[in-house]
Formats: sequence, structure tokens, C-alpha cells
Amino acid sequence: DMMNDIMGLSTLQEKVKEKLGIKKVLLVPGSYDNNPSLIKDVARLGAEYFLSILKDGDIVSITGGSTMLEFSNAIKTEKKYENATIVPARGSMGKDVEIQSNNVVATTSKKLSSNYKLLHIPDELGTAAMKTLTQEPQIKSTLDMIEKTNVLVFGIGIAAEMATRRRLPEEKVEEIVKKGAIGEAFGHYFNENGEIVCKLNTVGIHLDTFKNVKENIAIFAGTKKADALIAMTKINKNIVLITDEESANRILELV
Ligand code: G3H
Repeated sequence: DMMNDIMGLSTLQEKVKEKLGIKKVLLVPGSYDNNPSLIKDVARLGAEYFLSILKDGDIVSITGGSTMLEFSNAIKTEKKYENATIVPARGSMGKDVEIQSNNVVATTSKKLSSNYKLLHIPDELGTAAMKTLTQEPQIKSTLDMIEKTNVLVFGIGIAAEMATRRRLPEEKVEEIVKKGAIGEAFGHYFNENGEIVCKLNTVGIHLDTFKNVKENIAIFAGTKKADALIAMTKINKNIVLITDEESANRILELV
């Protein structure tokens, strides 16, 4: 019955939390693998948790991706956060405007009636161009703000998929995979031990900043991302994980 299901889910949340040694786990019942529309429920749970910890005046960094787009669409509040600022956790990527962090930031900010800053920097730039751009006062002020993040909400990528989505040349994708990368988050590719094996020449939140952010919320759905999430928790334990029940069960099988 339903009460038993709810008990089962909270037990599972506790188990995954303990196994990974992270701050909190919140689950949506069911399987994203069998029912991809479950992403909306996972995103809604993420948005609800986010609103429960958000304070006016927070600096919120947000990544791009289809999961994070659903997250921004799922935010629902009457409250106005006029002193909060939303920033993209990193530069924009490729041609897919809708799922770019800039777009997710704009949508999120509108829902919260907050301030926001965008980052109009392509993913892959030459070192010289990158240096010039990051010294531009407007861009520099956004980058400085990102380093003051107190809430970070991010999606998890599968390394090879993300490298292809970012239109890296095929050799580069192969190189990243050869180096053992399994996961990706905010431009950092990491192996199963959570070691960064490749960092793109991109701007955005630094790994050391990430390790000191007060509230990190990771949102993903799908068992194929379970190993990437596990690896991510080796970089930082201060993470609240939002995912679906089957992905949580897969995590328990893998750790
Ligand atoms: O950086 C990784 C992405 O957030 C994952 O993107 O949500 O479209 O799978 P996705």
C-alpha cells in the first residue's frame, strides 16, 4: 500500500545518503529509464527543495542542460527574492540556446523576481582571447560573483556525451574517454575516483569554490548517470542529491 511505499522510499533515501556519505537524498518514486517523463517530477522535487533553503540575498549558480531546464520550469513561488542574484556556473556552450546555462538562469530569475547576470563567453576559446575577455569589467564582475556562490544547483553529465554535445573534436572526445573520464559537471571531466582528468578552457566556478559552497544540489535522473554521480560525491560530500528511485537503487548496487 501507499504508506509502505513511502516508508520504503525514505529508507532508500537514508541508505543512499549513508553509502555515499552525503548530506541528503530526496527521491521520486519510479523509474526514469522506463518513464522519461519522470524527469519533470525529479525537477519539481529539486525546485521544491531549492525553494526550501533559498534565502533572499543568496548568490545562486546554476548549470545548463535539459535537467536544469526542467528545474527552472518547475520553480513555483509567490515570494520575491529581490536581493538574490542568479548566475550561470560557467560559460555558455555550443548552439543549443534553450538548455544553455544563460537561458536556465534567466528563467529561474524570472520565477524568483531576483537579479541575474549572464555570461556570454563561448566554451572553447583560445587562451589569449579568454584572457582578454575575462578582464572585461562586466564579465569580470560576473566571474567574481560566481566565486561567491552560496547555492549551486547542477546537472550531471556523462563524459563522452557531454564532450560530443559541446562539439569537441573527435580526437578530444577520445582523449577524454581514454583518460578515464566518466562524468562531467560545470566543465570539469572526472574519472571514477573523482579526479579531474580534463578541464576545458572555459570560464566558470572553480573546483575549490565548489568544495566550499554551502548548499550544493545535484539533480539527475537515469541509471546510466549513476556512476558519474558516485564519482562526483568523491569530489565533495556536501551534496543534496535529487533523483529517481531506480537510479538510487542502481547507486546502491554500484557502491
Ligand atoms: O553538465 C551536465 C549536464 O547538466 C547534463 O545535461 O541534463 O541534459 O543530461 P542533461
